[in-house]
Parts: sequence; structure tokens; C-alpha cells
Amino acid sequence: MHLRDRSNDDPSCGWRGNTGFATLQQISGWRVDSYDLDQLEKEAETKLPPPSWAFCVTGADDEITSIENVSAWRNLRLRPRVLNDISKAATETTVLGQKIAAPILIAPTGRHKLFHPQGERETARGAALADAVYVMATSANVPLEEVAKERKNAPQWFQLYLFPEHDEVERLIDRVAAAGFTALALTVDNQVYGWSPRQARIPFEPRDDIRNVNMPGQPMARTAYDASFRGKVVFPTTWRELEWLVKRSPIPVICKGVMRGDDARRCVDLGAKAVMVSNHGGRHLDTTITTAQALPDVVDAVKGRAEVYVDGGIRRGTDVVKALALGARAVMVGRPPIWGLAVNGAEGVAAVMRHLQEDLLRAMQLCGIKTPSEAARDLVAS
Ligand SMILES: Cc1cc2nc3c(=O)[nH]c(=O)nc-3n(C[C@H](O)[C@H](O)[C@H](O)COP(=O)(O)O)c2cc1C
Repeated sequence: MHLRDRSNDDPSCGWRGNTGFATLQQISGWRVDSYDLDQLEKEAETKLPPPSWAFCVTGADDEITSIENVSAWRNLRLRPRVLNDISKAATETTVLGQKIAAPILIAPTGRHKLFHPQGERETARGAALADAVYVMATSANVPLEEVAKERKNAPQWFQLYLFPEHDEVERLIDRVAAAGFTALALTVDNQVYGWSPRQARIPFEPRDDIRNVNMPGQPMARTAYDASFRGKVVFPTTWRELEWLVKRSPIPVICKGVMRGDDARRCVDLGAKAVMVSNHGGRHLDTTITTAQALPDVVDAVKGRAEVYVDGGIRRGTDVVKALALGARAVMVGRPPIWGLAVNGAEGVAAVMRHLQEDLLRAMQLCGIKTPSEAARDLVAS
């Protein structure tokens, strides 16, 4: 893989092109699998302008949840099986009936022009290179139809923020379905924004060229922690709205941001086809339980009536195996693909996803399982 030509650097978004991270590049082309994602994270930090980096890394308040999400997976212990024939192990699975290469999806994260001049177009290209499902965010900086053009073998889903203007939401979801996105992930944990002292200290300034182009009025992108949002219910989303959306949506609805079994059961009762256990990467409410802690309760409550996914702190193949063992059908990763995007555009996104896919396969084999569905709860020590 070729490095990006420095002459393509786009100073407008502060993207500094490839600054020659020889460590990663010298080893097997441009791959991250000789290192781990922690190394890539450090490179992304040196690459991005400080306000963009702060937007990516931040958690709410004291950042307790965003940090604990990661350590919770690491602190779970595996109980591997031995002597099984794992020579034909494979990561393929399905989500909502669609075949995918591995149960690792790219979580919706907004405002990608803060990380790369081509924004979400580049992320979608990277996802396609790695056959990974890309869940595009409402607060993207690229029109959804352009992102859809980058789709190859893997499905794309669309994350929905339900803004108050329902006629605009209807227009948006019809466009989403027409463009071939196959599911809507309704974010349910974010009626008001949380607070980030880190981003408040170094906010990114709203700029004319970075807009939420899929939102009504195409407003300039602001950080969720902008003072203008204080005291506002930005996305009024209640059980009533979920009921309405499930009836109105031409494609299946997933509830993203559920942390309790009783809520998950109610989402499914109202017609959600899947539930995503997520605390938004710890970016809005701090000191919640971790997603690793929340997952078993949700899985038990849903009782197989809908698929359950999980995100928050997944950084290793072993984390994915643990999530599968606890009952998740698939996981999503939020920050790691952004690190790849910042360091090496689409190739960087693809490298992150391929790295995780390979890491998962190795972890599965070392645990004595051949398929994601063989990961049973007894693989994790209680
Ligand atoms: C920079 C950034 C922007 C995000 N934007 C959104 C968003 O617009 N909508 C949403 O539902 N979640 C958003 N999230 C949360 C992610 O979808 C996901 O839940 C979280 O990042 C998973 O945790 P991880 O980053 O530890 O993998 C965002 C996360 C980050 C890091």
C-alpha cells in the first residue's frame, strides 16, 4: 500500500497527511497487526490538531466510564477449550440476516472532516476494503448518498438522531432507505448532551466547510459540548417516538444506547429488531456501569427475540470473543477506526478492521472455537 502523497495535505481541516510513521509502515506494508491499537492511538494523537483529538478521545466529566469500558473487557478472564479441531475456524456470521465477514462493525461517529479532508467518504471506503459494516452517523459531514456509493460487499447501516422536526426525519429516513442502507440505529441515550471539560478547554471552532449536511438546515458542525446546547433537549426521543419510528421506517430499527434488561425488553416489545448495548463510549453520562457489565442482563432479558450488539472499549480479538460469549451477536468499535482514518485515511480504517478481524480469528482458535456462535457463556470466568 502506498503512502499518501504529502502534497495532498489539506490544511483547512488541519489534516497533516502522512508524517512518516515508519514503525507501522515498515512492517508488512501498512498494517497494524505487528503492534496493537494503543500504538496507533498514540500516532493519531500526534497527527491530529488538538481540538480534533480532544473530540475523538474525550469522555464526559471525569472520563471514568470511557476508561473503564476498556479495562472491563481486559479484566474478564477466558476459560479456553482444548483439543478441538479449529483448523477451519472462520469469523463469518450474519447480522439481521445479512452475511458479514466478521462480527465487528464500525460504530457511528460524527464529524469525520475533523479527522480527514474527505470525511465519511474515506471511512466508508476503508470499511469496504475490509468488508466491514459501516454504521454512518446522522452528524456526518458528507451526504449519505455519497457514502452509499462506496459500499461494496458489506451492508451499511445509518445511525439516526431523532431531531424534533418529524417531517424532516421522514424525508431523511426515506433517503436513507433509497440509498440502500439496510438498518436504522436509533440513538436512545442522548436526549441531552453531556459535558466534557477536556473539549471545553480546547473546543473545535464551527467552520463553514464542516457541516452536518444530512441534518435539517445543514448547520455548521459543533461539538456536542458547545455551550449553546446547555439546558436543551436536543433530540427528544421517548418510547412514543420509538413506536412511531418502528411503524414509519422502511428498514429495521435498532435501539442504540440501551444499558438495562428492562429497557431492552421494552424496545423489543415495541418492534426493535436489535438492541445495541452502549453507553456512548462514556461521552455523555459518566460513571455508568461498563458495557461488559451491562451485556448479560440485556441478553437475558431479550431472550433471543432480537439480536444484541455491544460497543464501548473493544480493542482486542479477545474482547470480541468475550462479548460473543456473553451473548452479543456482534460488537462495534468507535474510536479505533478514527485513529486509522486520521493516520492513513481509508487504508488506515481498513488496517484497523483487518487487524481486529485477524485478532478475533486467532483468539477464537486459541479458545478452541471455530465459529462466533460457538462462543458460549462458560468461555468467560464468572
Ligand atoms: C468522536 C465520536 C463521535 C461519536 N458520535 C456519535 C454519534 O454521532 N452518534 C452515536 O450514536 N454515537 C456516537 N458516538 C459513540 C459511538 O457510536 C460508540 O458508541 C462508542 O464510540 C463506542 O466506544 P469506543 O469508542 O470505546 O469503541 C461517537 C463516538 C466518538 C468517539
